[in-house]
Amino acid sequence: MAPTDDLMERVVNLCKRRGFVFPSSEIYGGFRSTYDYGPLGSLMLRNVRDAWWRSMVQLRDDVVGIDAAILSSPKIWEASGHVATFTDPLVDCRKCHERWREDQIEGVCPNCGSTDLTEARAFNLMFKTYVGPVEADSNVAYLRPETAQGMFVNFLNVLQTSRKKPPFGIAQVGKSFRNEITPGNFVFRTREFEQMEMEYFVPPGDGPKWFEYWCEERMNWYTGLGVPPEMLRLRHHETDELSHYSSGTADIEYAFPWGWGELEGIAQRTDFDLRQHAEHSGEKLEYFDQATGERYVPHVVEPAAGATRAMMIFLLSSYQEDTVGGEARTVLRLHPRLAPFKVAVLPLSKKEPLVELSRSVLGRLQPYLQCDYDETQSIGRRYRRQDEIGTPLAITVDFDSLEDSAVTIRDRDTTEQSRVPIEDLTHEVFRRLGL
Ligand code: GAP
Repeated sequence: MAPTDDLMERVVNLCKRRGFVFPSSEIYGGFRSTYDYGPLGSLMLRNVRDAWWRSMVQLRDDVVGIDAAILSSPKIWEASGHVATFTDPLVDCRKCHERWREDQIEGVCPNCGSTDLTEARAFNLMFKTYVGPVEADSNVAYLRPETAQGMFVNFLNVLQTSRKKPPFGIAQVGKSFRNEITPGNFVFRTREFEQMEMEYFVPPGDGPKWFEYWCEERMNWYTGLGVPPEMLRLRHHETDELSHYSSGTADIEYAFPWGWGELEGIAQRTDFDLRQHAEHSGEKLEYFDQATGERYVPHVVEPAAGATRAMMIFLLSSYQEDTVGGEARTVLRLHPRLAPFKVAVLPLSKKEPLVELSRSVLGRLQPYLQCDYDETQSIGRRYRRQDEIGTPLAITVDFDSLEDSAVTIRDRDTTEQSRVPIEDLTHEVFRRLGL
């Protein structure tokens, strides 16, 4: 196991070397804490989103999904409170002119040690832009700083079209943007990131009950995908920490190499957002129960996760260095659902008819699973390459395969190998992956 003090460096290095995450605009010297997801990273990020969607939407009948626009009416952000209060307190160091978040530095400039700091000013974190050709105040729009508002402003649309009734949820995955003052720690805090949020609408009074429920569900999601429970904790916010909309929030925190940090927030947003939007839009955002004649504004419990931040912790918690047969290897013990490739097909030799048979094996699996195919270098090196990118199963096609129509399956974690008839392969692969 890699020592914690340089685990970050090792993971960042692996991400770059193997094509998970690249610094953005690298040929131009990079661009301020923005990142591009490469061939493996884009597959893995998609798997993180899909795993979330599967658990929050597909496996439930009380949650539906939407995909709202990133640009929207600025009135949304006035109503939600973001224009007025989505701010960080910003101070400048008068000596070295660095800028800091006041709440993170305890009165001392982390760059030069000076205590000569300006008064804090409120800095709004929303990215502003103009819609249309005229850069006038009347054309200002914001890039969304959270996906949540898309669910609130579509509450009636979804209620009317999906025929759901509280308790029910609306889920969304997508990009959000915040002009963070201190981005950093790789993809932990970036200005462009991806969120996975769900607004769960419940009868008033049921908020606390569903809050407990979602705290537990969401913890189970991470541990079910292989994050060790001791690396996670649930921390309830103090009253002075609560966001402007929340009557109670708990963070799921992860033991990052630099200490505990937020992974996901679960908030009781009460009826704040629906009431705000009702007031600002003039629409009645209520639920009317025809059976009982009851009419009410639902309360909301919101599990709000970060897809990019989650991907980072899946990488951190699966990274290991161990020794196999006297040889050192790096292995990502990723849950099969998250691994970029589920299977690698490896012909023992580049010669025909082995390649043809290998390609037919690949063709059996590809319709169902993301596979890799690699015929270069020694088989040992190819296994290690697959271990390093977390591929759970490697299938070797050798000269015996031509005779016995069977292949060897190697398990990433145990490195055990066993022979499986090609006829049974798809079934056997699914059984082993547990998908
Ligand atoms: N709708 C509520 C909301 O947005 P949040 O705690 O500000 O709550 C939810 O964000 C999650 O989004 C965080 O727990 C984190 O995983 C992710 N997130 C927030 N800001 C981020 C940033 N600058 N970079 C990466 N992920 C971020």
